[in-house]
Amino acid sequence: MQAISTVLLVIHSLWRWVVVVLLLATFIKMLIGWLSKSGWGDLDTNLTKWLGMSLGIQFVLGLLVLVLNTLTVGGAYLQSAAVIEHTVTNFIVVILGSLSFKKAPVNKRFRNKTIALLLAAVFIYRAVQVVGGW
Ligand code: HEM
Repeated sequence: MQAISTVLLVIHSLWRWVVVVLLLATFIKMLIGWLSKSGWGDLDTNLTKWLGMSLGIQFVLGLLVLVLNTLTVGGAYLQSAAVIEHTVTNFIVVILGSLSFKKAPVNKRFRNKTIALLLAAVFIYRAVQVVGGW
């Protein structure tokens, strides 16, 4: 079980770069859409969808590592402040990344997405720092 957890953690660790690239690309696209007052296009839909998917995959991988490590290491694993902070912070990131603001007028949607993704980026930066860093 420990071996599976180790492999999943390596994948989780590498997958962070997929999340980071998509987060950056989506943030920049939302910012441009907000400032240039453009309409919502297919690329906006796709980028937000891909970012949501990448975060969902990261979430599942992280949760599996958390469960497997708790089973092998025992309850003490959950007493690690770093693990708890990383997990809780990233729960918030998953929520922030999946807010769609679909009912808002387009320009407000771009603005809200930009702000939510900026917050998500700050949270991810901090959350990775506490589990060994970048
Ligand atoms: C709610 C979602 C997430 C959960 C439940 C989760 C869970 C975990 C757990 C349990 C660990 C092992 C910590 C340890 O034993 O010290 C870990 C490590 C890590 N996580 Fe997450 N994580 C989540 C989201 C993320 C996100 C969004 C990123 C970055 C984009 C990320 C990047 C990392 C990195 C870089 C490590 C260290 C890997 C290593 O030691 O090689 N995680 N995560």
